[in-house]
Amino acid sequence: MKSPLPEYLKHVLTQCKQDSGQTAQYIPELASANPDHLGVALCTIDGDMYAAGDTEVEFAIESISKAFVYAIALEDRGFDGVAKKVGVEPSGDPFNQLSLDPKTGRPDNPLINAGAITTHTLVNGKTPQDRYDRVADVLSRCAGRKLRVMEDVYSSEMKTADRNRALAYMLHMTGIIEGDPMAAVEYYTRQCSLAVTAKDLAVMTATLANRGRQPVTKEQIFSPDVMVRVQSVMLTCGMYDYAGDWVTAVGIPSKSGVGGGIIGSLPGQVGIATFSPQLEEHGNSYRGIKIFEHMSDKMGLHLL
Ligand code: DON
Repeated sequence: MKSPLPEYLKHVLTQCKQDSGQTAQYIPELASANPDHLGVALCTIDGDMYAAGDTEVEFAIESISKAFVYAIALEDRGFDGVAKKVGVEPSGDPFNQLSLDPKTGRPDNPLINAGAITTHTLVNGKTPQDRYDRVADVLSRCAGRKLRVMEDVYSSEMKTADRNRALAYMLHMTGIIEGDPMAAVEYYTRQCSLAVTAKDLAVMTATLANRGRQPVTKEQIFSPDVMVRVQSVMLTCGMYDYAGDWVTAVGIPSKSGVGGGIIGSLPGQVGIATFSPQLEEHGNSYRGIKIFEHMSDKMGLHLL
């Protein structure tokens, strides 16, 4: 790369700022998000941060939380304990589809909603509130600051969460989730409503890239073998029914959220986060995809 990184990051934003797509229409509070926000942040595994654009604006983490909660479930229940309940196969379906393995009844993977509601219930805790508190605490430690719930996003999403309620009842009926399925949806939705910035996400993702050690606080939050599992699923399933195009063009383990964030982890190197709330038809950030494509190409980041 000829230009230094900070200059390149400013440049990539100018290259990828064409409007396209819409804010998440099925959650009223997200539908009214500012569609112009655009930012990119990189955090190295040594904790150095590079950022350009709107990287200190808070937005809802949404499905990006699923990768971290899968990690917590693996820590708490072990690989076999989680594998009994959730698979690791790309579903090829939209994120809110009830994609279950016909033989076992398990959700195909932990990054679609059915799988993520399930992993949320696998986190250690006596009550749904305890489980949620553990989720919020671990995600906050990954970010290096206490994350708060965006209450407006939470209540807005709860008003339109019937599809997730249907998924949870289905999972409860088949014995995949135990306990009250409505509490599972409530606290999963709180998890999705946690406020993050692109800079937070870059540090959180660098924790994944750094074999589970938070690069700034140096806390070992997850074990290295859990990080291998999590990033494997991010590579194959992180972008839902866009995963094949993504792996081909970008080639970085990743996860998107309908709040407009996308994270990408380059193991042993860097955590990357983009923020732009305009979504394409699969629910991924349109301009975030463009930025990742540009960076993968110009910085040679494709893993293969
Ligand atoms: O459950 C939902 O539908 C949202 N809380 C999260 C969906 C999401 O972020 C999909 N990702 N792009």
